Amino acid sequence: MTNYDKISKEALKQVRPTKEQRRKLESLANKTLSLTKKVAKRYKAKAMLAGSITRDTWLPNKNEFDVFALFPEKLTKKQLETTGLQVGKVVITKLKGEYEIAYAEHPYVSGKINDISIDIVPCYEVTSTEHLKSAVDRTPFHVRYIEKKLPLGLSDEVRLLKKFLVSNGMYGADTKVLGYSGYVCELLIIAYRSFLNVLKASVKWTAGEIIDMEKFYAKQDYQKLVEMFKGQALILLDPTDKTRNTAAALSAFNFFKFKKYAQMFLDSPSLELMIGKDTQPLGESELIELQMKRRTELVVVKFIPPKVVPDILWPQLRRFADRLQSILEETKYEFKVLNKDVFTDERFIATAILEMEVSKLPAMQKKVGPSIFDLKDAENFLNKYKEQAIGIYPEDGFWVAEVNRDFLTARDKLVDSLTKPLDILKAKGIPNHIAERIANGFEVFSETERIMQVVQRNTDFGVFLRKYFEREKLS
Ligand code: UTP
Ligand code: MN
Ligand code: MN
Repeated sequence: MTNYDKISKEALKQVRPTKEQRRKLESLANKTLSLTKKVAKRYKAKAMLAGSITRDTWLPNKNEFDVFALFPEKLTKKQLETTGLQVGKVVITKLKGEYEIAYAEHPYVSGKINDISIDIVPCYEVTSTEHLKSAVDRTPFHVRYIEKKLPLGLSDEVRLLKKFLVSNGMYGADTKVLGYSGYVCELLIIAYRSFLNVLKASVKWTAGEIIDMEKFYAKQDYQKLVEMFKGQALILLDPTDKTRNTAAALSAFNFFKFKKYAQMFLDSPSLELMIGKDTQPLGESELIELQMKRRTELVVVKFIPPKVVPDILWPQLRRFADRLQSILEETKYEFKVLNKDVFTDERFIATAILEMEVSKLPAMQKKVGPSIFDLKDAENFLNKYKEQAIGIYPEDGFWVAEVNRDFLTARDKLVDSLTKPLDILKAKGIPNHIAERIANGFEVFSETERIMQVVQRNTDFGVFLRKYFEREKLS
């Protein structure tokens, strides 16, 4: 047996559901399906299973399946929403489970029966993908395509690929992960026939890679495709819809990370790369050592996350960090951000961290004004700085004023900018839900002791910090 065979055998033990797990999930799925069919019928709707249960590509850790309720096209969006949710609620209630409303393009019901999760998603039943009314309407086409093209013998290959991605933080097309969806994994296995072949192919991918499984386009159209899907690192055309890139949500970071990890695994296959290892939170002495080495200052902005779904929270948090950087780098203040990142547990803590290349500035600042011969502008400049200036004099033909800086540290600048009423925060471009929280309080700090206190209370924050400092070398 080769090294890889040993590793995949061991990994499969973990990712293949046991007979008992399979029996439990499948029997609940069948029960839920016939129940949903019955309930949906009252609204002239149909039901089908979708997602990973249909081709046996689910991972026992996730323990979830998806049921789609297909409604007639003539329903309005509003009607689809209310009746769709109604069907889901009735079904989960009849199964004696708990449910909550989740949101994709429109709301759906996410239920829990013991340790099994069930998504009940309403969509329109359309005749072809050219007549989609919403993005979820594609799913029934995906189910039929995968059923036809993915032999059951390849289910384990999909599971290995999913596991490899989960272990290395790249599984899922949600806004938190920005990685590879379950459907993308299934398509890649159909295209390349095995987990190992996907890895081998991926190391040759270049940015803007096009995978056209159904040969919709001729090679001379590829430049057009790159234009059509501008900015998307991997263009894996949906075989059920030639106008859609199934990997649209994938970040460039995760595109190159996958290539890198694939290369590492091919060079020396290891169980650790396959099933992942626990990352320890960053320790105090490590943080001190890092700060001595890097000579940067880590500024943390911390607040309570707004109660919105993760798919909204994560992009808003990232935009918030972008905004903080632009506030710090307004030319007037001359602070400079080296790098930044965001973390939230989606419940108690949300943070943006800004690692500062320049976080302290001298009290003195020199303002260069207009030419001394520009009489009108010169007068304005002199009037403006007359009071506050410590010195005003011409230098190389221009007026200059030496003044005191308003903010000497990045922290002071941030505290000042964020200590504002809600409407001002929003006007400054702080994303809405975040602005509401910030208006109710926040904290800005960079002391090692304070950072370590937060790590103590939330070890995931410590893990996040380690990953921040142990940056990937993706080339
Ligand atoms: P899942 O996210 O459950 O993926 O979506 P999956 O393929 O079953 O993989 P795992 O094993 O659970 O991780 C199932 C289908 O439901 C649709 C997607 O199109 C996908 O094909 N879906 C699900 C949405 O469109 N939106 C959602 O918010 C959730
Ligand atoms: Mn699923
Ligand atoms: Mn799902």
